[in-house]
Amino acid sequence: MGLRLTFIGPPGSGKGTQAKLLRGAGFVHVSSGDMLRAEIAAGTERGQAIEATVAGGGLVSDQVLFDVVGSFLSRHRDAAIVLDGYPRTLAQAQQLARLELDAAVFFDIPDAVLLRRLGDRVIGPDGTIYDLQLHPPPPGLQVTRRADDDPAVHQRRLATYRSDETALRAYYEQIGIAHHIHAELPLAEVQAQVQALIARLTPAAV
Ligand code: AP5
Repeated sequence: MGLRLTFIGPPGSGKGTQAKLLRGAGFVHVSSGDMLRAEIAAGTERGQAIEATVAGGGLVSDQVLFDVVGSFLSRHRDAAIVLDGYPRTLAQAQQLARLELDAAVFFDIPDAVLLRRLGDRVIGPDGTIYDLQLHPPPPGLQVTRRADDDPAVHQRRLATYRSDETALRAYYEQIGIAHHIHAELPLAEVQAQVQALIARLTPAAV
């Protein structure tokens, strides 16, 4: 059985960036946001129903998340998994309890830092995330912005996240699997913190 982690943090805290890096270490990356955007892009009935919610920075219903993420997880029972953006509510965390997570990793970061990052985020055609200031895309690459990367929506997404954060922290502190990352640090330093945590959680070979 592989390690099962969830990365929890506000928009722009870098959880997606770090989760993608773990793919190289054999983790299955499960991004609830990417899954919801894929539904929207595919034009499914569910995608049409959630499009305005995602674009406006609100939360999609727990039931939709159970259907989309839950069905994916049930097909990857033994894999090493890094969840990114899920759970986001106490109900989602309680529903996820069956997965027996090894760690809930909180990406702690001041609002001013994440708002700067979100303002400078662009996405390459293969899904690579770039930061226009710190790691810009190669010259000439066609990049796009996410529909919800708009300053007014950033504030709403942040407020939405903060309103559920305390309950999630309390839940995982109580279970004893909460860990904290200084997510405001440069990318390589955040990655080093994640790797150190994984090393601590990985049972030593005998
Ligand atoms: P989702 O796609 O999960 O978005 P989010 O939580 O708002 O988070 P982001 O993807 O914006 O940020 P991130 O923390 O991954 O940062 P990133 O690595 O990109 O969700 C979108 C929407 O879907 C939600 O608003 C909601 O509507 C819906 N949804 C999703 N999950 C849901 C759920 N469970 N329940 C209900 N609804 C749900 O980094 C940001 C930028 O910073 C990038 O430019 C990056 O290059 C840069 N960067 C990253 N790390 C560093 C660093 N260390 N130093 C400097 N720059 C960095």
